[in-house]
Amino acid sequence: MSEEKRQVEKIRKAFEQEFGRFSDLNLENLSLDEAENLQRELGELKTKHTGKKSELAVSKKLIGRVAPEERGAFGQFVQSIEKEITTVIEEAENNLKNFIANAKIERERFDVTLPGTRPREGHLHLLTILRQKIEDIFVAMGYSIEDDREIETDYYNFDALNIPAGHPARESQDTFYTTNGFALRSQTSTVQIRAMERRGVPIRIIAPGRVFRRDTPDLTHTPMFHQIEGLCVDKNITMAHLKGTVGEWLRRLFGKETRIRLRPSYFPFTEPSAEFDFSCFKCGGTGTFENERCRPCKGSGWIELGGSGMVHPNVLRACNVDPQVYSGFAFGFGLERMCSLMYSLDDIRLMFENDVRFLEQFK
Ligand code: DAH
Repeated sequence: MSEEKRQVEKIRKAFEQEFGRFSDLNLENLSLDEAENLQRELGELKTKHTGKKSELAVSKKLIGRVAPEERGAFGQFVQSIEKEITTVIEEAENNLKNFIANAKIERERFDVTLPGTRPREGHLHLLTILRQKIEDIFVAMGYSIEDDREIETDYYNFDALNIPAGHPARESQDTFYTTNGFALRSQTSTVQIRAMERRGVPIRIIAPGRVFRRDTPDLTHTPMFHQIEGLCVDKNITMAHLKGTVGEWLRRLFGKETRIRLRPSYFPFTEPSAEFDFSCFKCGGTGTFENERCRPCKGSGWIELGGSGMVHPNVLRACNVDPQVYSGFAFGFGLERMCSLMYSLDDIRLMFENDVRFLEQFK
């Protein structure tokens, strides 16, 4: 054998040794990752043994150097080796490629007939549901919904509402103060002032929102709760409008038979002032339900809901509204209290504990 031929044989041997692990690959036990690694390594091996700088490519230059009578046979020999090498590499490449393609399909396969996992469906909080019902009723009666800030100055929370410094009404509405003269509002009545300043009169609004008081939490108190404030100011508004409006709203919420009553009371920002009650939605005002003392109204037939009255002239003046020309009524009540009565909850803190087992009952 010529020296050149021996050299080419050596190249083939070296290739066969390195290629060995690809020639008897057991694809079945391979993971996709392993197969992809092998594919990369095979690519490197291919470049090394068949690329432009491979020993095989270099050996082709030997063809010109062998004796002319042997040149043809040697050339064929080199070519046959080259063919052999590229064929086995190609075969291994194809096997790996098919295996990888199948493994990917397998990995991405899923059974479209399997039942899906249904996302848990949420729902509105019971306070939100009630608030929206009340808002809808008032919007239908021509009122707008007014929203305003929860952090206020003493002026809006008290002074403008005819509660001067030192007035005893400030004490029951003690709230949380910031260090720079602001406080969390203790009542939504602040929005009466804000809304009249902003919109002027005539005005018809309700203002739902959070209020805050320095109360220790117990069955009927939380330091944060919600109120809805109502305000109607126009020419010739009287107590009859107040009674008609509150009555209509409660009839739309609890049914046509609902009656209301006003009891004389005192609030600094109304004159005269009244608390409003409505006939119990459970016993229809009889005080007895299924032969027992009715629970929500404690057997009285009436449920006390909120405060109301004719807007005090000082409040109108604070908003630059002439009390000789305009008059109005206002009312306010707590949403949590209303909710607990409607759903017979004995602890209002339940509404803020975010326990879905409780909340789910009120959709
Ligand atoms: N702001 C009062 C409170 O928090 C409730 C209230 C009473 C609001 C009478 C009014 C009203 O608008 O006229 O106790």
